[in-house]
Amino acid sequence: MNGRIVQDAMTQSEYDIAVIPGDGTGPEVIAEGLKVLGAVSKKNGFGFAWHRFDLGAEHYKKTGETLSDEVLEAMQLCHAMYLGAIGDPEVPPGILEKGILLRLRFALDQYINLRPIKLYPGVETPLKDKGPDEIDFVVVRENTEGLYAGAGGILRRGSPYEVAIQESISTRMGVERCIRYAFEACRRRNRAKKLTLCGKTNVLTYTFDLWERTFKEVARSYPDIETNYVHVDALCMWMVKNPEWFDVIVTENMFGDIITDLGAMLQGGMGVAAGGNINPQGTSMFEPIGGSAPKYAGQNIINPIGAILAAKLMLETLGEAEGAQMIEGAVMKVLREDLKGTGAGEMGYSTSEVGDLIVAFIEGSGG
Ligand code: IPM
Ligand code: MN
Repeated sequence: MNGRIVQDAMTQSEYDIAVIPGDGTGPEVIAEGLKVLGAVSKKNGFGFAWHRFDLGAEHYKKTGETLSDEVLEAMQLCHAMYLGAIGDPEVPPGILEKGILLRLRFALDQYINLRPIKLYPGVETPLKDKGPDEIDFVVVRENTEGLYAGAGGILRRGSPYEVAIQESISTRMGVERCIRYAFEACRRRNRAKKLTLCGKTNVLTYTFDLWERTFKEVARSYPDIETNYVHVDALCMWMVKNPEWFDVIVTENMFGDIITDLGAMLQGGMGVAAGGNINPQGTSMFEPIGGSAPKYAGQNIINPIGAILAAKLMLETLGEAEGAQMIEGAVMKVLREDLKGTGAGEMGYSTSEVGDLIVAFIEGSGG
């Protein structure tokens, strides 16, 4: 496996980035993200050292290996990770997802999954009468616990007496650090300053007893932030009916997974949605949330903007706010003035042409 890192080659202004193009359309969208990051770094006087790791279905099919300890260690030395997508219809579900994506999240303790839901001008939303003023919020999803922790098992598999158990794990430490992060994110965002806890206190009375108590306790340290609580089913309804009610939403892992796909649709589809798997003290991983989209792979028609916005999130987390703004500005220009749509094959441009348009705008902008 390539991707070796020479640590003493690091300099102050150079970031070591682990790049995992992955499966399906992952490599195509990551190529555009790298182009954009290259243009932005030139303008802003910082540099990247890319460390490519060919993880995913192909590597698994060849070697039977998902992610080795050695590769994990090498990645851990990087400042951040940039991931395309993991998942392949020819590999049984769960192997690559659990062996690579979830393993990375857990091993690197990326305990926050940060997913901005923001409708940019010029992008169509399926919501009637809602626009960029109404659709702009952030979901903070707990990323290492809940049903994803993997507790449980199957007894007497295949027999009529079969039992399947999948338990949801929540720890005080895990819940508290996620909630604290959400309050801080809400303060930093400095908009409505409203944090919504999304749960299911009426049925999941153990899990959300812990979440709600912790939420109320932590809230005392943030008197400037307004708080409220919404059940997850009702939240789905309000996200569609009144998305403008939300500023920052904090929730557990499984609920966060579900509501952020709904959110992605509100903001114009999977092609433009990005997320960060964040360890505030360690190495974070940034990815478009559209997945590997195998039916569009190799055709140069997939929308790379989700991957490019993931690169923007990465720059924000690295502390390169100006570079991040530059990417967002260029994406907004291209969405507003150039693209005909955001779906695969509906942009009026190819994947690489969209990347070129964004790069051209960045190169042409002042400074
Ligand atoms: C996501 C994805 C993953 C998840 C899958 C691929 C394991 O859906 O990042 O939201 O469920 O977390
Ligand atoms: Mn998901």
